[in-house]
Amino acid sequence: MNILAIDTSADETSAAVVSGRKVLSHIEYSQIATHTNWGGIVPSIAKRAHEERIDFVVEQAVNRAFHQMKLGGENFISGELGSDIAHASNIHPQQNFAFKFSYIDAIAVTYGPGLAIALEVGIRKAKELAQTYGKKLIAINHMEGHIYSCFVENSKGNPVRTFQFPYLCLLVSGGHTEFVLLKNHLDYEVLGETRDDAAGEALDKAARMLGLGYPGGPVIERLAKEVKNEDRYSFPRPLASSKEIEFSFSGLKTSFFYFLKQAEEKEKIGKMKYLASSFQEAVLDSLLNKIKLAVQKTGVTSLVVGGGVSANKRLRLITREFVKKVGGTVYFPPYPYLTGDNAAMIGVVASYKAEKGEYIKDINAIDRVPRLSLKKEFIEK
Ligand code: KG4
Ligand code: ZN
Repeated sequence: MNILAIDTSADETSAAVVSGRKVLSHIEYSQIATHTNWGGIVPSIAKRAHEERIDFVVEQAVNRAFHQMKLGGENFISGELGSDIAHASNIHPQQNFAFKFSYIDAIAVTYGPGLAIALEVGIRKAKELAQTYGKKLIAINHMEGHIYSCFVENSKGNPVRTFQFPYLCLLVSGGHTEFVLLKNHLDYEVLGETRDDAAGEALDKAARMLGLGYPGGPVIERLAKEVKNEDRYSFPRPLASSKEIEFSFSGLKTSFFYFLKQAEEKEKIGKMKYLASSFQEAVLDSLLNKIKLAVQKTGVTSLVVGGGVSANKRLRLITREFVKKVGGTVYFPPYPYLTGDNAAMIGVVASYKAEKGEYIKDINAIDRVPRLSLKKEFIEK
């Protein structure tokens, strides 16, 4: 079953075609360069950029998947379908897209959480395609995507990762920091989340205070590495002694702000790398403290770490070290593009939803839910 997935929840316009966990195509247009001067995502700019790119991104994803199917031969298509595809090049270009689209079985789209006016662009496109081509629609929570990003395979089926539930999932992105227990496919229990800022958001804000631009995570990681991750300033580790599975980063951000305020301008410039490194250590240490606590409380030692911050090599290292000590395992997204926002992970979740027949009953009823949560008792405010 081939699923076309769309994600426009923040600053990436992304579409992908997946077959089960295999990614046949993935196209992403990043707006990072557009937002970098503003120190964060500007919703109205994001909306316009999504609108400008969405048609192209979807078209390319469908085209490339089609090409991939052709190359993949029996892996993805068989018998009659194979010969149809072989003749596709003789078809008029306008019919060509419709022809290629006939190999898409369903359409998946992120409906939250995220920026309302950005989510709307993807949802509108998904509805339009579903109506035009008579396909079923599947609505996906972006955070489910970040969990399943660790199980996405390339078109050849790599890496091979078999599910062995339960998983303790740490989701660390720009908008969210939470622990989720994945009990079985699509069966989530939110164990705890941040009281205020997300880990990525804290890194972004610190980078902004240092004048390093957006997004902050990658640049802070790079600077920290240059000083061997030295923790010179030892900023506070929020909630270190709390026995609750929860996070808080706003106090750390405030203490960083006041530290910079009282520091001499000259000192700040000279010590930039140490400041970045110490801030990163405080964030990562806080994450590790809570990983330890969550493992201890749940007894689950199979970990999954997803979301933008999961790209961080130092986070990967300290998590792996801990997991090794307790005889557990940890999965991170296997390819770099899967750490950030992408439609491939959305498609993979959708393939499990499709298996269970979880399609949208009334296409017109699907709407964006900017504060969507994985909590079962969640009610939109
Ligand atoms: O998942 P994501 O791409 O978007 C959201 O859904 O929020 O996460 C973006 C966040 C940003 O805060 C960015 O600074 C952070 O992920 N990030 C990193 C790294 N790469 C991206 N944080 C730490 N180290 C990185 N290498
Ligand atoms: Zn995300």
